Amino acid sequence: MADKRRNIISQRATNIPPSGIRRFFDLSAGVPGIISLGVGEPDYVTPWHISEAAISSIKKGYTMYTSNYGLLELRQELSRHLNHRYKIDYDPKSEIIVTSGASEALDIAMRAVIDPGDEVIVGDPTYVAYIPCIIMPGGVPVTVPTTMDNDFELKASEIEKRITPKTKAVLLGNPNNPTGAVIEKDELLKIAKLVEKNDLAVISDEIYDRLVYDGEHTCFASLPGMKARTITCGGFSKSYAMTGWRVGYVAAIPNVIEAMMKVHQYIMMCAPIMSQIGAIEALKNGEDSVVEMVDDYNRRRRVIVNGLNDIGLECHMPKGAFYAFPSIKSTGLTSDEFAEKLLLEDHVVVVPGSVFGECGDGHIRCCYAVALPDIEEALKRIDRFVKKHSG
Ligand SMILES: Cc1ncc(COP(=O)(O)O)c(C=O)c1O
Repeated sequence: MADKRRNIISQRATNIPPSGIRRFFDLSAGVPGIISLGVGEPDYVTPWHISEAAISSIKKGYTMYTSNYGLLELRQELSRHLNHRYKIDYDPKSEIIVTSGASEALDIAMRAVIDPGDEVIVGDPTYVAYIPCIIMPGGVPVTVPTTMDNDFELKASEIEKRITPKTKAVLLGNPNNPTGAVIEKDELLKIAKLVEKNDLAVISDEIYDRLVYDGEHTCFASLPGMKARTITCGGFSKSYAMTGWRVGYVAAIPNVIEAMMKVHQYIMMCAPIMSQIGAIEALKNGEDSVVEMVDDYNRRRRVIVNGLNDIGLECHMPKGAFYAFPSIKSTGLTSDEFAEKLLLEDHVVVVPGSVFGECGDGHIRCCYAVALPDIEEALKRIDRFVKKHSG
């Protein structure tokens, strides 16, 4: 008999594409001897002094809600940190909210800024959550292609071509996941000019700000006139190896913070207190660990990129984050076929570039936040796989 129940799934939820990454983790589950370059997270565990601070706080009975804004001490540390690194002033009392990861930061930023029908300009390839975060409040993503010819750098001239009267905001992921591209300061200044001229907002996801290898990270909000237009999203997951702690932040001017607070207070209330206490310790005493981990990622970056190029998979040298994004076009396989066959035949997990957008097709994403011997073994297997499939 036909099922007469009505379909309870909303149109908006129906329209959101499922994450293409998940399928690969499901496929690899339980396969012995797998090397995963798939998940975008550090292979390090959180530095012990950070964990200890959180454990000790639980022992002392810190197990309750905090202010919706987050612990004032953490906001003060964030303010100090952003000022120290990027010479930007955020008032800890009125210009920062502690969130459950940069994920929540992105979500509340979008919901605060977007009305239904508003267009948001975003680079392609792009982090998998960006398009859903734009669609959820009714926004319309407008993608800007980026290519390997210019190291996947998002160009102001390409953004300009896509600005319409409906454009409300530009979403920047800098450094970029999945390409590792860093938008250089001169290009950011051109983007800032466009933003000013067209009266736009900017949501700047800078979760990889500490993972910049050649040169320095530029915080978009620190550019002249940009603080008032920008929501800076950041977090602790990548720089401090704290993915499981679910702690991040947004920084913006007070009226924008208040708009985001309306969403945050109802859907999240506050980030977990023990994670906030860990984050305070990270900012106060975690710098040596960050430097050590980043140095290590830098070494691995060179090994994987040189290795992929030697295999014949053309790969630009990513300037930030911890992803290599080689072209696999020389094999004649699609990125989906490449990733699936590589997993099933030679037991290496990579993510097909197509899950990050049209411009990602023909590429794979290899996370190199993985121990060096595993990277070396993965490269051997990829070499074997490519030889097998090159005729
Ligand atoms: C570009 C980018 N933004 C945001 C996030 C989410 O980070 P968090 O763990 O802080 O929610 C990720 C995680 O992979 C990411 O790659």
